[in-house]
Amino acid sequence: MREAAAGNQAADSFLNDLRRFDALGTPTRRILADGIPYFINEYWTARQRQGHVLHEISYRACFKPQLPAFFISRLTGPGDAVLDPFMGRGTTPLQAALMQRRPVGSDINPLSILLTRPRLAPPDEGAVAATLQRVTWDQPGDMPDELLAFYHPQTLRQLCALRHWLLDQARPDAPTDWIRMVALNRLTGHSPGFFSVYTLPPNQAASVAAQVRINARRGQVPPLRDVAAIILRKSRQLLQGGKPPPHPAANLATGKAHELRHVADASVSLVVTSPPFLDVVQYRQDNALRCWFAGIDAGAVKIDMHRTEVAWQTMVRASLQELARVVRPGGHIAFEVGEVRGGEMLLERSVWQAAEGLPFARLGVMVNAQSFTKTANCWGVNNNLKGTNSNRIVLLRRM
Ligand SMILES: C[S@@+](CC[C@H](N)C(=O)[O-])C[C@H]1O[C@@H](n2cnc3c(N)ncnc32)[C@H](O)[C@@H]1O
Repeated sequence: MREAAAGNQAADSFLNDLRRFDALGTPTRRILADGIPYFINEYWTARQRQGHVLHEISYRACFKPQLPAFFISRLTGPGDAVLDPFMGRGTTPLQAALMQRRPVGSDINPLSILLTRPRLAPPDEGAVAATLQRVTWDQPGDMPDELLAFYHPQTLRQLCALRHWLLDQARPDAPTDWIRMVALNRLTGHSPGFFSVYTLPPNQAASVAAQVRINARRGQVPPLRDVAAIILRKSRQLLQGGKPPPHPAANLATGKAHELRHVADASVSLVVTSPPFLDVVQYRQDNALRCWFAGIDAGAVKIDMHRTEVAWQTMVRASLQELARVVRPGGHIAFEVGEVRGGEMLLERSVWQAAEGLPFARLGVMVNAQSFTKTANCWGVNNNLKGTNSNRIVLLRRM
C-alpha cells in the first residue's frame, strides 16, 4: 500500500510537471478528446544534448534515448527496474543502465539481445582489437554467392570467416559479443563505413533482387572493404563517450511481450516501450541479413504484424495484462505509439481502450510534437500533428 501511495504522489507530481512544462519555450497544451486528457508539447528535441553515443546503432522504428530518459528521470530512482518488452535495439534498457537503473528487456527477435547486451558492458578498445586478431580470417566456411550483390568477393570472404568464427564461439566473451554487435550494424548501409556497396539506409535491408537493381541503376560494383578496420573504427566511435556507470545486473531475454517469464511479479517500477505499429514496418525483411549473419532462422521468429486495428489491440491488451503482473503497485507504463495511415488512425486510443478493466489508472496521453502546424480544429490533436514527427505516449499507473 505504501508503495502505491508513493506511486500516486510520483504520478501527481509527474502530471503537474507535464502541465507546467515549458523548458523548451512553449507552454503545454491540454486537450480533452473523447474523454482522454492529452498533454501536448515539445518535451524533448533534437536540439537537446545528444543521447549517449552508445545508443548510435541503427534499428527500424527505434525511439530516441531522450524518450526513455524523460520518464526514467521523473518516475524512478537509482536501482529501480526499468523494462521494455519490445526492446528492439535496446534503447530503454541501455538508457536505464546509463542512469543506474536495472535494465530489463525482451523482444521476440533474438537479434535484439545481440544488439543490446554488449553495449550494457562494453569492452576496452584494446580488447576488441586483440580479439579481431584471433579471428580465423582464412576460414570462410559457406559463402552464399547471391550476397555478391552487396559485397566485393574478398569482403564477403572476410565477412563469412567472421560469421563462421562467431558462430563457433560457444561462450562468447565481452569483446566477441561486442564485435558481433558492431558487425551486425555494419552489414549494409550507404557509406564506406559499411561493409556493403551503397544500398538502403542501415536499418533497412534490400533483397538481393532489389540490390541487383540498385547496382544496375547506379552503375556500381561492390568495392573492397576491410571488415576488421571498419569494426574497429565504429567501436572507437561507440566507445568515445565512456561506459555506463555501475548499475544493477541486466535481465534480458528473448520472448513474447505477453509472456515475460524472466520477470518476477511486481518487480518493475517503470515500463517504457513501443510495440510494432500494425504492419507498418517489415521487421522480418529489414532484419533478414542481420539474422543470417547471427545464425538466426528469421522464418522462425514470429514477429507480430497486424493488418487490422482489432487484431493489434488484442496483442496490446495481452501485453498490458502481462505488464499488470510485473509492474509494482504505484509503478508506471509509458506506452508509445507512432502515427500510422497518415495520422488517420490514432493508435493511442486503441491502447487506451485496451487498458480498460485492467488494474491501471489511465493518466493521459502525452504527445511530444517537434513542430506544430497552424491548422486548428476543436481539439487539434489529429490535424495539428499530421505529418510531423510526433510520439504519442499513453501513461498508465499500476493501481
Ligand atoms: C517499434 S520496435 C521497438 C523499438 C525500440 N523501442 C527501440 O528503440 O529500438 C518493435 C519491436 O517489437 C518486436 N516485436 C514484435 N512482436 C513482438 C512480440 N509479440 N513480443 C515481443 N516483441 C515483439 C520487434 O521485433 C521490434 O523489435
